Amino acid sequence: MAIKFDDERKLFHLYNDDFSYYFYIHESGIPVKLYFGDYISDIDIEAITRQSGDWTAHYFDSETQSERVYDNLLISNYQALAPISRGIDSRTPFITIEGTNNDKLDLRYVSHRVYDGKPSPKGLPSFREEALAAQTVELTLKDHTKDIYVILSLTVSENFNVILRNTVLINKTQSALRLDRAMSISEDFSESGFDIIHFPGDWGYERQFRREKLVEGVKTISSYSGRSSHEHNPFVFLADGSATEDCGRVYAFSFVFSGSFKIEAGVYKTGVTRLLLGVCGEDFAYSVASGDKFYFPEGLMLYSGKGFTGASLQLHELIRSCLLKDGNPKAFRSILLNSWEGCYLDFDTEKVIGMIEGGKKLGAELFVLDDGWFGKRDIDDRSLGDWCVNEDKLDLRKAIARCRELNMKFGIWIEPEMINQNSELFRAHPEYAAADFSSYPHLSRHQVPLDFSNPEVVDCVYGMLEKLFTEYKVDYVKWDHNRSVEDCYSPYLRKGRQGEFTYRNVLGYYSLIERLEKRFPDIHFQGCASGGGRFDLGTLYYFPEIWTSDENDPVQRLFIQYGTSFAYPPATMGAHVNDCDVTSYKTKAQIALFGSYGFELDPQKVTDEEAKELEEVNEIYRKYHDKVILDGTFYRLISPFDGDAFAVESVQKDKGAAIVLYVNLLKKQKIRRFIKLKGLDEKALYRNDLDGKTYRGEFYMKVGLNLSFTVKEFQSRLIVLEKV
Ligand code: DGJ
Repeated sequence: MAIKFDDERKLFHLYNDDFSYYFYIHESGIPVKLYFGDYISDIDIEAITRQSGDWTAHYFDSETQSERVYDNLLISNYQALAPISRGIDSRTPFITIEGTNNDKLDLRYVSHRVYDGKPSPKGLPSFREEALAAQTVELTLKDHTKDIYVILSLTVSENFNVILRNTVLINKTQSALRLDRAMSISEDFSESGFDIIHFPGDWGYERQFRREKLVEGVKTISSYSGRSSHEHNPFVFLADGSATEDCGRVYAFSFVFSGSFKIEAGVYKTGVTRLLLGVCGEDFAYSVASGDKFYFPEGLMLYSGKGFTGASLQLHELIRSCLLKDGNPKAFRSILLNSWEGCYLDFDTEKVIGMIEGGKKLGAELFVLDDGWFGKRDIDDRSLGDWCVNEDKLDLRKAIARCRELNMKFGIWIEPEMINQNSELFRAHPEYAAADFSSYPHLSRHQVPLDFSNPEVVDCVYGMLEKLFTEYKVDYVKWDHNRSVEDCYSPYLRKGRQGEFTYRNVLGYYSLIERLEKRFPDIHFQGCASGGGRFDLGTLYYFPEIWTSDENDPVQRLFIQYGTSFAYPPATMGAHVNDCDVTSYKTKAQIALFGSYGFELDPQKVTDEEAKELEEVNEIYRKYHDKVILDGTFYRLISPFDGDAFAVESVQKDKGAAIVLYVNLLKKQKIRRFIKLKGLDEKALYRNDLDGKTYRGEFYMKVGLNLSFTVKEFQSRLIVLEKV
């Protein structure tokens, strides 16, 4: 891995053994991207940038009496590294400002430096340097006439085909600037014909796989809800129209941020494509004071020449090794029982202890007490903001002590970013609520967000939680966020600065979790936002696991987990068995096994027969879950989005074992079906527990596992393979 600079051609080559990224500095000082793809040892600038120009660059030359084209490559369709509005280029820029005499930016190269390591944007999460083996080129760009600087850093890694993009705007003018558009990713291709793959959804229906042709015009995917959202995910692929699960060029784009975002994928008149991803739009207008800096969230672009599998394998490993950090991996790697679907808000000490004891019998090693234990929270219209135990309802010490006696870990639910009007906190500090009660708000779920753009509010919540976690030793915290933030008003920012609210609110979220993790380094934090409404790289930096969805129908969860797996590893997906009766307990448990694994039900209602089914899967969990699923290599085998079945596989890193899950989604039960496995050692022999026989890896991968027998609709088969 390295970054090479050819001074004569002003050419930069960022590469590892597998991929290359080239750009150069045009004689005008404008940085021009040249190539992103499979490794190539050198390129020719002229051969790439040569073009005819489009009609807007034509003029009639009276001397020669003929049509001529301006000889200027920077007119309308060059591949810009840092695109701004220039000339007759109709594409959207990556940055826009207001506040100077001439608000158009014209960024030109000033200098560069190359160094080992990578930058970290101030106040924001970003990929951790350690496992990246990173090198960075930092370009200093300056506006042609104004004292506005942009520091653009591109980081390359030895271990992944990734470019991390960090941008800092520095305002050295005498007045404040308003930043309206701060795109972390801006990537141009001098070609079209891509498909865009994105992951839309809704509450209980998160991250569905969608693939569309990118045609002329701009496809926009966005969230203005102050969180990354259920509706869209800040993650897309651009892929060759012919790319498949295993073959073809695939580019992944995302950023390390949890708030509102916008992705624009445009195909323009000369057949070029531009992808922008970052913060801008409806709820973003940020004032950068004279002398101040604005740090863009870190952008990620990743290349795979081996289809979607190639991209996902890299993303999974990159996230696991360079983003996640777990304070209590032992708690995480325990079978969990969460109280929510088992009793909702309706419990007392006896009920909770009954659940703990019942959970123990089902195999649970960790009990998490969900919503309802604090303030006067018997109904969901009250007490958010009052993070002290409701002692009239519950003897929490007794419940924790019972867990310890049974050698179980204990966890608790919080929703620190929210407040109910009916709470002690609101009565004392109505100004802490991010709402203008004189005009609205809409009380979704009877609650409004706290104003986390105000550091005093964050301090106050920190104080309560610090006290709570000091008084009650917990191993696990589930951190929820049940209301979106789009219609909010910050009393702290007041008039004229509301365009900064949702962004600063996210910074407040990060600062609170950052302080709590420092103070309580032994706690495992699970992220959650009404299910999977904040499943993004920013959240994963602090929360190594996120509750994937509130959908409790296991068949629907297959789609959600499958869609989520394109960007995020199974190890990050909270997945539980509940009492939904669409499938057997065994099938529900097998599906949950391809996530963090646990239960969310009332153990008293589980029959002996059902408990037996769970125990069968628990045994597999104990033997294989850590090595094969959490730390293993995950493959998608059959997509439920294509129709009739679902199959996935996870292989231990040393290829010593693998687990395959197959679920039939079709009424038709008698069909010939072979599932071709992936990632095994071709030459090694593996025994499978389906027919009990032993075959070579190559047989499983080329011929496949023969599942041509009756598997009824919504029934599953979990197959374990062991190297012999
Ligand atoms: C939404 C979460 O997704 C649920 O799991 C549960 O924690 C409830 N909130 C509690 O209010």
